[in-house]
Amino acid sequence: MKIAVIGKGGREQALVETLAASPCKPQLFTFPGSDAICQTATPIPATGFDELIQWMVDNGIDLCVAGEESYLVKEEGLANRCAAAGIPCWGPQKESAQLEASKEFAKDFLLRHRIPTGAATAVDSYEAAIAAIGGQYPTVLKFDGLAAGKGVAVCPDAAAAEEFLSEVFIQKRFGAGRLLVEEFLTGPEISIFGAICDDKYLILCPARDYKRLQDGDEGPNTGGMGAVASRRLADPELLRTIEESIVAPTVRGLQADGLPYRGFLYFGLMLTPQGPKVIEYNCRFGDPECEAVMPLLRGDLATFCLNGAQGKFTPELISFDEGWSICCILASAGYPASSHSGDLISGLENCAARVFHCGTKKTPEGWVSNGGRVLAIVAQGATLEAARTAAHAEAAKVNFPGAQRRSDIGYRNM
Ligand code: AMP
Ligand code: GLY
Repeated sequence: MKIAVIGKGGREQALVETLAASPCKPQLFTFPGSDAICQTATPIPATGFDELIQWMVDNGIDLCVAGEESYLVKEEGLANRCAAAGIPCWGPQKESAQLEASKEFAKDFLLRHRIPTGAATAVDSYEAAIAAIGGQYPTVLKFDGLAAGKGVAVCPDAAAAEEFLSEVFIQKRFGAGRLLVEEFLTGPEISIFGAICDDKYLILCPARDYKRLQDGDEGPNTGGMGAVASRRLADPELLRTIEESIVAPTVRGLQADGLPYRGFLYFGLMLTPQGPKVIEYNCRFGDPECEAVMPLLRGDLATFCLNGAQGKFTPELISFDEGWSICCILASAGYPASSHSGDLISGLENCAARVFHCGTKKTPEGWVSNGGRVLAIVAQGATLEAARTAAHAEAAKVNFPGAQRRSDIGYRNM
């Protein structure tokens, strides 16, 4: 089997390595890939969709796996282009990927299908936003489009709201677009992953992301500074509630709305005092959650995804270990406001944990940083204590100038 994985980060490296380890021994290809991913997968020589699709057709690619969301909604959409070319794709079509690309589309979907979520009002001006907030703080403001993880502001007071509103409507930092004013919810967050195949689904191992830059959930929001994954993160009763009130109605809703879906679907949930509520959908695996979850996966992910992409649901092909997996991210200086590239990474040879490269480059001197999030150091253990001790000890062996890392991944919010 020949598989092409689309994307270039730590999530895609974790997917590539897990797919490559499938018993059916697939051959892996990647676009655009990275130096680290290309240790396992062959880079596809393409500069855009046309060349990519043509190359996949010419080279007999059996399955295209979407890693990164941007390709799903770009131009005609990766899955749509694959469908037109007759290539099975694990990842939804553009219409369905609006669940991630448009917060307003997602909110309308949630309300229409009576799936628990925070109340919200869509607005298209600064003044309308102030009116919708109605002096109620904290409030949550969400730009209605892909904004590289920077389009959401949790505003404790009017000053914070006014600052974000001016970025959105006056400086137009994310371009033109509407905004959701959303009810502020409280409670622990959890990331639930579904593998969706039309009207069927499998709930995968849950995870928890650490979104803030610094220990104690301080500092700015980031793409994720670490993650914990374990089937024990959610007890069976909570999982049943999540399945019945959120996952199953979502899959029924996609069917009812005529939104085709074959691929991973990420449910970002808040466990509020009134029960689990949806904060966001993402039409792909989470990053860095993927780096934590994949090492727990057993079985044949490659055949599972190929079957799913062809409309054949085979949940018996994969399962998850009972233990715990902890992922610690090393980010470069200046992240998340900026990033620093070219910092030489040391200590990788001493690190006994699994290392996925989020943003690195191979140079004659060795691996160097090449982006905001640089490395994901991931360790497993039979207990939470064993996994987090190993992950932090191994992450401490790796370093580069200006490296930023949280020391409370797997400790806080557990
Ligand atoms: P999102 O990009 O939608 O995942 O939002 C980023 C982060 O903002 C989430 O992980 C939450 O921590 C926070 N957030 C989003 N929506 C809400 C909400 N309604 N209430 C409180 N916090 C929220
Ligand atoms: N971990 C958050 C995300 O993948 O969007």
